[in-house]
Amino acid sequence: MSRLVVKNLKKKFNSVWALRGLNLILEPGEIFVLLGPNGAGKTTTLKLITGLLRPTEGEILIEGADLRKDPIKAKSHIGYVPDEPFIYNKLTGREFINFVASIYKVSRADYETRLAGLLKTFDIGEWVDELSESYSHGMKQRVIMCQLLLHNPELILIDEPLVGLDPKTSKTVRELFIKLKEEGKTLFVSTHTLSFAREVATKIGIISQGELKFIGDIDELSRISGKKDIEDIYLRLSGEDGDV
Ligand SMILES: Nc1ncnc2c1ncn2[C@@H]1O[C@H](COP(=O)(O)OP(=O)(O)OP(=O)(O)O)[C@@H](O)[C@H]1O
Ligand SMILES: [Mg+2]
Repeated sequence: MSRLVVKNLKKKFNSVWALRGLNLILEPGEIFVLLGPNGAGKTTTLKLITGLLRPTEGEILIEGADLRKDPIKAKSHIGYVPDEPFIYNKLTGREFINFVASIYKVSRADYETRLAGLLKTFDIGEWVDELSESYSHGMKQRVIMCQLLLHNPELILIDEPLVGLDPKTSKTVRELFIKLKEEGKTLFVSTHTLSFAREVATKIGIISQGELKFIGDIDELSRISGKKDIEDIYLRLSGEDGDV
């Protein structure tokens, strides 16, 4: 059974087609990186797969569960980080993490072990008991990454994971993604950071104006575009270089 199956997924906002028929299959152990210019449809795609938006047309299966017919089961496999992460200002980082863990019904034993590891990975132990309103953007991102991983999701969807992170945390995130992949998780990441795609992606998608223009690994993309550098490949295939 594939972890994520997306069939002919379409989304129309008023008269604008934000997504025009996406087909995608992801297996365990894949890191899929979705690239594309502003307004291409990346956030829309992620929100459709997490069930935050209702598709105009199409089908989404997560671990075989149909998101429309069996939403609770399908969503139980998902961990999601939006592009503008939200934490209740009057909660501390720890209270926010506890709150999310309780929604996902994480057992006490799992909670204790996983949290200890995550606090260390993201180096947030010192300020996790302070109110979130005092956190910088990057500090909030780190708390969000903790809550994401606490319920041990199989399918992890992250919109712009590196925005606002300092170089050290950004490196931690890259290493963590590779570790999660090796554990058999599936990651679906949207980003503008091309070096991130080059370093971690097992599969790259390039979307433009709601259409997936290309999908494949970096070698296939180089072959198709006739370019070697990830930036040149991206500009050529997304139609942003003026030639296409
Ligand atoms: N709630 C909404 N109502 C109306 N139109 C929307 C809505 N959300 C997105 N759109 C439109 O859908 C298209 C795709 O937007 P989306 O946010 O998915 O792009 P994106 O690829 O994530 O861009 P960015 O790189 O800027 O984050 C755009 O034309 C946008 O204006
Ligand atoms: Mg976006």
